[in-house]
Amino acid sequence: MTIWKFKKKNKIQNINNPVQLNYTIGEYSYHAADFIAPGTIIGKYCSIGAGVKIGADYHAINYISTSPKLYQEDYKNGKIIQFPHIEIGNDVWIGWNVLILKSCKIGTGAVIGAGAVVTHDVPPYAVVVGNPARIIRYRYSESDIEKLLKSEWWNYPHEDLLTLDFSVEPKEFLKQLKQMQKNKF
Ligand SMILES: CC(C)(COP(=O)(O)OP(=O)(O)OC[C@H]1O[C@@H](n2cnc3c(N)ncnc32)[C@H](O)[C@@H]1OP(=O)(O)O)[C@@H](O)C(=O)NCCC(=O)NCCS
Repeated sequence: MTIWKFKKKNKIQNINNPVQLNYTIGEYSYHAADFIAPGTIIGKYCSIGAGVKIGADYHAINYISTSPKLYQEDYKNGKIIQFPHIEIGNDVWIGWNVLILKSCKIGTGAVIGAGAVVTHDVPPYAVVVGNPARIIRYRYSESDIEKLLKSEWWNYPHEDLLTLDFSVEPKEFLKQLKQMQKNKF
């Protein structure tokens, strides 16, 4: 059973797993992940489903034995990199039971389909599925993606963002965002 403990407004910890204490997660992101490797960086407004595992532990496959019981000291001395470094952008949706194995960057706005096994970077606003995860499409056109990234809408105050309609196309959304800024000053 997973027990949730809400610390600060933007910090969520699964206290079943002490290793999870060492990652950072942005405001308004939430997760039901089984495991998040130390050092993982997660942006704002991310939705991370149940059963997700981020950052698989590394065993020395170039040693005679892969059992850390035989080379524990190398772990302690940092000779073996234990966990991959994973950076997840803003507004990323990660479906149920996704595994993120290797060091990689998941771009802002990306969608990772349920059950995917991610071994490479995922570009912003790409939709990836499968094992290994492959891009099936992009959510928006290249120029719209560029504009959405440039806008950094996720950095505006949450209360202001709540006044916008998120169901519209990027052009209309960016128009609203501009208007929102104008109204403020
Ligand atoms: C990734 C996802 C968003 C794609 O949705 P979509 O854009 O509507 O894609 P479609 O359903 O049109 O599927 C497109 C193709 O990808 C395949 N596909 C979709 N999701 C897949 C997945 N998770 N794994 C493998 N293949 C998948 C479909 O079978 C289809 O293949 P086809 O063209 O050969 O028929 C969705 O399928 C998904 O996995 N959502 C996650 C749900 C979840 O875990 N929710 C928990 C809450 S966090």
